[in-house]
Amino acid sequence: MKQARIISVAVAAAFFALIAAPGSMKAQETKPSNDWLLDAPDDHTRFQLLQRYLRGFDQPMWEVGHRYLGVYDALGRENYDLALYHWDKIKTTIQNGYLKRPARRANAEAVFLDTTWGEVRAAFESHDIKQAWEGFFTARNACMACHVAEDVAWMNNQDMFDDTASPNN
Ligand code: HEC
Repeated sequence: MKQARIISVAVAAAFFALIAAPGSMKAQETKPSNDWLLDAPDDHTRFQLLQRYLRGFDQPMWEVGHRYLGVYDALGRENYDLALYHWDKIKTTIQNGYLKRPARRANAEAVFLDTTWGEVRAAFESHDIKQAWEGFFTARNACMACHVAEDVAWMNNQDMFDDTASPNN
């Protein structure tokens, strides 16, 4: 009996020694938390973190570029519904872009959204392949014109625009 008690005390002591070991304490302290928003001290800091995370005009443009190639591919298949789908999302994405960077709004509207966007949409809606491609090349020109207007003309010198140029140019 006495021996059994000694053993259980020894086991308990070993157990407490283990959980109180400086090594395991340290591991607990330095374990990184995934709650990057919940752990922030206040809402102001949380909104700052969200703003940084949601980026500026570059990330919407990245999506616009992807969808632009999607439109090109869709027209190649005469899939007008898919072309219109991407075209509508491109508008939303550009608008979300200038929500974050209002200085881009004036050129986005003047060069792209106010007239060109609707004309191109009508061209896709016509389901006439010739008109639809004309619409696409009008869109391409507007994309590139806005890059010039916004002082990023070098943006036009990339495969995305070379590969989607009009064969008549
Ligand atoms: C407001 C005018 C404007 C319009 C309209 C516009 N762009 Fe842009 N685009 C920009 C600006 C400005 C940048 C650079 C953003 C930055 O520096 O954060 C950019 C960047 C890009 C990028 C690089 C994104 C990246 O970081 O990988 C691509 C690709 C792109 N645009 C494609 C297009 C296409 C395709 C269209 C037309 C469907 C288009 N853009 C229409 C202004 C515009």
